[in-house]
Amino acid sequence: MKVLVLGGDGFCGWPCAVNLSEGGHDVVIVDNLSRRKIDIDLEVESLTPIATIGERLRAWEQVGGKAMRFVQLDIAREYDRLLQLLRSERPEAVVHFAEQRAAPYSMKSSATKRYTVDNNVNGTHNLLAAIVESGLDIHIVHLGTMGVYGYGSHRGATIPEGYLTVEVPQADGSRFTEKILHPTDPGSVYHMTKTLDQLLFYYYNKNDAIRVTDLHQGIVWGTNTALTDRDPRLTNRFDYDGDYGTVLNRFLMQAAIGYPLTVHGTGGQTRAFIHIRDSVRCVQLALENAPTSGEKVKIFNQMTESHQVGQLAQKVAALTGAEIRYQANPRKEAIENDLIVDNRCFLELGLQPTTLDDGLLKEVVEVARRWADRCDRSRIPCLSAWTTRQAEALSVQG
Ligand SMILES: NC(=O)c1ccc[n+]([C@@H]2O[C@H](COP(=O)([O-])OP(=O)(O)OC[C@H]3O[C@@H](n4cnc5c(N)ncnc54)[C@H](O)[C@@H]3O)[C@@H](O)[C@H]2O)c1
Repeated sequence: MKVLVLGGDGFCGWPCAVNLSEGGHDVVIVDNLSRRKIDIDLEVESLTPIATIGERLRAWEQVGGKAMRFVQLDIAREYDRLLQLLRSERPEAVVHFAEQRAAPYSMKSSATKRYTVDNNVNGTHNLLAAIVESGLDIHIVHLGTMGVYGYGSHRGATIPEGYLTVEVPQADGSRFTEKILHPTDPGSVYHMTKTLDQLLFYYYNKNDAIRVTDLHQGIVWGTNTALTDRDPRLTNRFDYDGDYGTVLNRFLMQAAIGYPLTVHGTGGQTRAFIHIRDSVRCVQLALENAPTSGEKVKIFNQMTESHQVGQLAQKVAALTGAEIRYQANPRKEAIENDLIVDNRCFLELGLQPTTLDDGLLKEVVEVARRWADRCDRSRIPCLSAWTTRQAEALSVQG
């Protein structure tokens, strides 16, 4: 099938594009390379050295034997070019990774808050409007986040896959049941954009019968897949800095370079996780199991396990001998939360979860050790504070 991969130069998008190409799909990567420009602005680089998009594509053609094409385009700002691209390529599916994806970056300043909203909400809306205007029947697979459900207390309830069945009391004492979108509870401007995406999908699905699969993804860990491991020029990015690094990869990198593991607050925060190999596989499964015409938005919880951050740190410390350092929390969030998640949709489609116990934690530590000299230690602390109260706590800590 012909697939456009929006954001296909990014951490999740690149291994996904390569995997789809390997599977025989005709892949066109669309990316404005904004993530690489943000690295330049922040004066930080991926821990792993990553090739330019041109080198990546040449390498994949040599190693994978298949050509992928690349279009540099800003989906949030170049509506006419996006529409033209859909009309000329006539893809059967679009995988949409093209958003500003770091919560800490989104909370750095009013400029980064506004950029995140402009970029993410306009990008998603432009895609939906362009599909309607093109008149084509294109399946959108969107990467959302588990954070749309919120990380407050769910009082032990299992988080369903997108829809919640509620009982509504009537004035006469009777009740009716209804399936509604699970209420959203964003914890950052970034997460808020994902909750807005969810409403955009709901509306365009209802009004224009656009077929959408929204993947509520957990935090992705790991770096390479078997395919991106085939050649150094295919190497995937590894973010470790305080803005873009995600918690488990950061712990593994910190352990590799002898830096104390940075646990924010008590470490009682529970989050959902998925390995990059499973993330890639899930996108493939979502494409192969598209909603039928008229079907409501399919929502899958794309995660394989939940862990408390403090327990994760202890696990990494036990594996590597690293020290743990508890720090002031830059985020305004619950001190601890529960997170029990229903992820049956992907399991029933055949996903075989890669877990933390599968030996891959060590692999990430080895990758980080290999590139340890590229790490700028001054970029490890998370300095983006959610409010002035958290900023004060960070400055007291020094
Ligand atoms: N990495 C994770 O742990 C994680 C977890 C849950 C959800 N997600 C979601 O998955 C998606 C991809 O995340 P990632 O980690 O690969 O992020 P990333 O920043 O590495 O990749 C995003 C890519 O999209 C591109 N992009 C951004 N805005 C664009 C625009 N307006 N036009 C064209 N291209 C644009 C960037 O240049 C980048 O290459 C995001 O939507 C993110 O919210 C990621």
